[in-house]
Amino acid sequence: MTASGISAGGVALHLDGVRREFGNLVVIDHFDLHVEAGEFLAILGPSGCGKSTLLRMIARLAPPDGGTIRLEPDTGRFQTSFVFQDAHLLPWRTVLDNAALPLELMGVTREERYLKARHELERIGLGDATDRYPAQLSGGMRMRVSLARALVTTPRLLLLDEPFAALDEITRYKLDLQLRALWRERGITVIFVTHSISEAAFLANRAVVMARRGGGIKLDRRIELPERRDEELRLDPRYGQEMNALLQAMEEE
Ligand SMILES: Nc1ncnc2c1ncn2[C@@H]1O[C@H](COP(=O)(O)OP(=O)(O)OP(=O)(O)O)[C@@H](O)[C@H]1O
Ligand SMILES: [Mg+2]
Repeated sequence: MTASGISAGGVALHLDGVRREFGNLVVIDHFDLHVEAGEFLAILGPSGCGKSTLLRMIARLAPPDGGTIRLEPDTGRFQTSFVFQDAHLLPWRTVLDNAALPLELMGVTREERYLKARHELERIGLGDATDRYPAQLSGGMRMRVSLARALVTTPRLLLLDEPFAALDEITRYKLDLQLRALWRERGITVIFVTHSISEAAFLANRAVVMARRGGGIKLDRRIELPERRDEELRLDPRYGQEMNALLQAMEEE
C-alpha cells in the first residue's frame, strides 16, 4: 500500500464450474467467468438469478458448493472490498471513524488510518464532513463514505452490489462519474451488479447478462464505447446500441 492510496492495479478473477445451492434450490451451476485485471464488468440479470450470491462467493463471504474461484495474484483478504446497496455505516461513529474501520481491523496505527481515511474522504468530496455522523448525511453522502471505506485498504478488486439503486437519478449519475473516475485512476478490477441497463452501458467495458435460472450467462459483451464517458456519451448513438443489445438479452427468455 502507498500513502497516496493509489493501488498496485487490478487482479484477475477466474471462476470455473462454480455451483451454489440452498437446499433443493440450485442457484448457480457450471458457472464459468474469467475477468481480466483492470476490467470494469457489469453484471445484469433478473431478480433472484443469483447475482448477489455470486458476489458473496467472490468476496469469500460464502464458499461455493462446487468449482473454484481464484484471484490472480492472490494477496489475501484485504485485496477485495465490497460495497452494498445500503451504506452500512455505524451510526455512533463519525464519517472519519467509519471510513477508517477496515484499517482498524487490519491493525493499522491510529495515525496512519486517519491519514488514509481522510485522504480517501477528501478525494471523494467529503473532506468537510469528516466529523459528522451518518444521520447528518444525505443518502448520496452516506454512499460516498461507504466507497471511501471500501477504498481505504487499497483493494485490487472492488465488488459493488446495486450500490446506487436507492439514490435519486442525479445523485446516482454523479456517483457513476466518480466511480468511473476512480476506476480509471487506480486501474483496479471492478465488478458492478446493477438492474440499470443505462448505468451498465455507461460505466462498464464489459457486461454479462445472467439467465433467470441456473446462473447461466445469456450475453457476454464488450462495451465498445469511448474511454471518456460523460454527458456527451448519453447522446451518442453507439450508447443507444449498447443499451439495446443488453435490453434484448434481458428480454430473451
Ligand atoms: N441464504 C439463503 N438461503 C436460501 N436461499 C437463498 C439465500 N440467499 C439467496 N437465496 C436464494 O437464491 C436465489 C438467488 O438470490 P440472489 O440474492 O443471489 O439473487 P439476485 O440476483 O441478487 O436478486 P436481486 O436482483 O433481487 O438482488 C434466490 O432464489 C434467493 O431466494
Ligand atoms: Mg441481489
